[in-house]
Amino acid sequence: MGCLAIIGGTGLTRLPELQVTGRESLETPFGSPSAELVRGLLAGREVLFLARHGDPHRIPPHRVNYRANLWALREAGATAVVAVNAVGGIDAVMPPGHFCVPDDVIDYTWGRASTFFEDDLEQVTHIDFTQPYDESLRQKLLAVLVAQGYAHSSNGIYGAAQGPRLESAAEIRRMERDGCAIVGMTGMPEAALARELELPYACLALVVNPAAGKAQGPIRMEDIEAVMAAGMARVGAVLAGVIGT
Ligand code: HPA
Repeated sequence: MGCLAIIGGTGLTRLPELQVTGRESLETPFGSPSAELVRGLLAGREVLFLARHGDPHRIPPHRVNYRANLWALREAGATAVVAVNAVGGIDAVMPPGHFCVPDDVIDYTWGRASTFFEDDLEQVTHIDFTQPYDESLRQKLLAVLVAQGYAHSSNGIYGAAQGPRLESAAEIRRMERDGCAIVGMTGMPEAALARELELPYACLALVVNPAAGKAQGPIRMEDIEAVMAAGMARVGAVLAGVIGT
């Protein structure tokens, strides 16, 4: 039977709410996923959990094997994916601690293996990506955020940056002109690969810092970590709520 998969990002290497029932090491035609897939029960339902950056956290955003991750989750029975991403806030309505469930994405990454459709093709395939995120999964996340009373935005464009460095202030101004509300390093190609596998996919983004140039002075990792610890503690409750609906 199929189940929901959760991809945990920075700050969410493990999900404390998960009652672990098993771990699976899978190999895929695209290599190894970032970590063992963790199978468990969340709010009484079976879910799969994968730490995007490995456990312990050691794989930088541009080195994550996104293809292996998505492929392995599907092989293990995932029928939908909720991705958790720590992001910088570009739009003033996205302060640290705020959640955003983006409804669109702009991909500024480069040099990442970003498609399953490149070798041994019977035909050239172009997936539709007009709406990158699954609307029904988005609405489930939003309903739980409303019910749990967490400050959030119900839409926004996720700007996917290459990393691992943070952006310059001018890069953020450009993203802002493009309409991006938040910036992260792992939103793509993950969303597109999920679509290629026809897995409904949505993103729960937690703002952990004002993006470059949006606050006085440099971005300090200590500040990010403090926001992350508090915010990710709430993420487990949101995910449990989504599973329960
Ligand atoms: N930029 C890119 N990725 C991020 C940021 C940021 O400011 N914060 C957390 N992930």
